[in-house]
Amino acid sequence: MRTPYIGGNWKCNGTVESIKQLVQDLNQGPSTEGKVEVIVAPSSIHIGLVQSLNLRKDWKISAQNIVQEKNGGAFTGEISASMLKDLGIDSTLLGHSERRHVFGESNTVIAKKVKVSEEVGLTIIGCVGETLEERERGETNQVITSQLKDFNVTNWDKFVIAYEPVWAIGTGKTASPQQAQEAHKVLRDWLADNVNSEVAQKVRIIYGGSVNSANSDELIKQPDIDGFLVGGASLKSKDFLSIVNSGLKSVE
Ligand code: 13P
Repeated sequence: MRTPYIGGNWKCNGTVESIKQLVQDLNQGPSTEGKVEVIVAPSSIHIGLVQSLNLRKDWKISAQNIVQEKNGGAFTGEISASMLKDLGIDSTLLGHSERRHVFGESNTVIAKKVKVSEEVGLTIIGCVGETLEERERGETNQVITSQLKDFNVTNWDKFVIAYEPVWAIGTGKTASPQQAQEAHKVLRDWLADNVNSEVAQKVRIIYGGSVNSANSDELIKQPDIDGFLVGGASLKSKDFLSIVNSGLKSVE
């Protein structure tokens, strides 16, 4: 039995006021302690703010990205894995489709980021996903398994896979539970074939792409869907708490 994992990716959103309100409201939700792992990933400029607002202790704060050099240095505009550790942050998203497609991050750069995260001991939420064109050409399985392989993971204990079909991100078009399950199964089978069956059974594979409070119950019922990476709906406390509640119900 895998512990569900649910992340809120706040992307490049929020003001001091909106984040104060959001944290205050999220802190009111039922405890997830020992049942569901929950992280929120504010923009890096808001990480300290969320810490100072005393985000509930059963949830953790994650970063959205790091630079590929462990200790940073001359990398204007970036943040390093060591800085996160120093701040008490112990996870980061990597390879998000917006990093790949808007900022042109290659699999090579992403693999370097995986390596430094592993060196520093960060948990990684590694994102994979096909574009609509790739899906229509029948390349989904090949694309997502090669992205998974190219992370070059060596420590699967600190790796969560996020399957986020690009065509479902921010579009209101969610993958159907069957489509998502199929992709998650492909990823799990890849782990079984290329790592080992124990890792395949243990690694959480979470779904992202227009997850909301109306579709989260059905999605998490799928055998290989272990949680979510939520964008837009994670900025609304009621919606995010309801998605977290789908996780809680799934382990009842
Ligand atoms: P949306 O939930 O807004 O579609 O975003 C998904 C996502 O990219 C999470 O990382």
